[in-house]
Amino acid sequence: MGVAARRVDFALGRLLMYHGRAMFQTTAPGKIILFGEHAVVYGRPAIAAPVNGLQATATLTPGRPGQGVVLELPDVGDRMAVTADAAGQPLAHVTALALEVLRLVPPPDWTITLHSTIPVASGLGSGAAAATAIVRSLAAAAGAVLAPAQVSALVFESEKLFHGTPSGVDNTVIAFGRPVWFMRGQPPEPFTLAHPLTLVIGDTGVASPTGIAVGDVRRAWQAAPERYEALFDAIAQVALAARRAIEGGDADALGPLMDHNHETLQRIGVSSTDLDRLCQAARQSGALGAKLSGGGRGGNMIALVWPDQAQRVVQRLLAAGAASAIVTTIA
Ligand code: PMV
Repeated sequence: MGVAARRVDFALGRLLMYHGRAMFQTTAPGKIILFGEHAVVYGRPAIAAPVNGLQATATLTPGRPGQGVVLELPDVGDRMAVTADAAGQPLAHVTALALEVLRLVPPPDWTITLHSTIPVASGLGSGAAAATAIVRSLAAAAGAVLAPAQVSALVFESEKLFHGTPSGVDNTVIAFGRPVWFMRGQPPEPFTLAHPLTLVIGDTGVASPTGIAVGDVRRAWQAAPERYEALFDAIAQVALAARRAIEGGDADALGPLMDHNHETLQRIGVSSTDLDRLCQAARQSGALGAKLSGGGRGGNMIALVWPDQAQRVVQRLLAAGAASAIVTTIA
């Protein structure tokens, strides 16, 4: 943003004036799944929380006359005009749907530029965050207020294109911007933590599209339904115990529950040697517990730490080969 920019507070984002032209800037956070990934696709509960240190940012500016809505994705060197039948590209698709819901038909001449600090294909909700920031920018420019559930429902449509059979947990936690207890097909329950939790997020540096891991789990479940249903039930039990511990402020109980959840994910077949090594390194350097987070096979792991241990765990993860390690607080 240049020095000519002047900021004005705006209900759903920021209205900025740039050389006399209105701009809207909106954001959406990344997310982690604390408990319950994969089992959540099969109707079991999951606990997820936003990661506010990682963000997708959409900046909406007036475009050229007659261009319609154009998405600029400079981070990946892409640019696309949004058409009503943009069903092939998740972000164009969610933009077209939001234009319809907001009754912006015919579409105005707007350019939406997206930047994101959320690594892609790594279990941190990059796709859902990008879509959420875009929907929010359109609502802000239209002067409309969309409830979190409405934003979430729109973003869910793009999630289906990103990875086939999403549970909806990513779009829900990102649109609500709060820790949630989530079960497929039920209204999410945002909930309050008794105490903030400090987590270290370690990135294997291995991109792993969620759709592939989810597809492999589905085939394994079809081949051995009883075994997989029992594994999903075990994860559901852990998620339930974890919710009690989080609401009761019992961080000591949470660590072993994370370890337990990771072991079950190993048995489901979605861990990797990199994820296992980073989880082990975190535990050995004082973390209370550690597990993979998200689709698995690569992407990120999370470790629960006491705040004064966080930097030690970060250093240990980097020494064990993590591409990056960041500290985040879930509150
Ligand atoms: O990898 P992510 O961040 O998209 O998380 C996916 C979580 C899964 O449970 C594996 C899939 C889903 O749709 O819930």
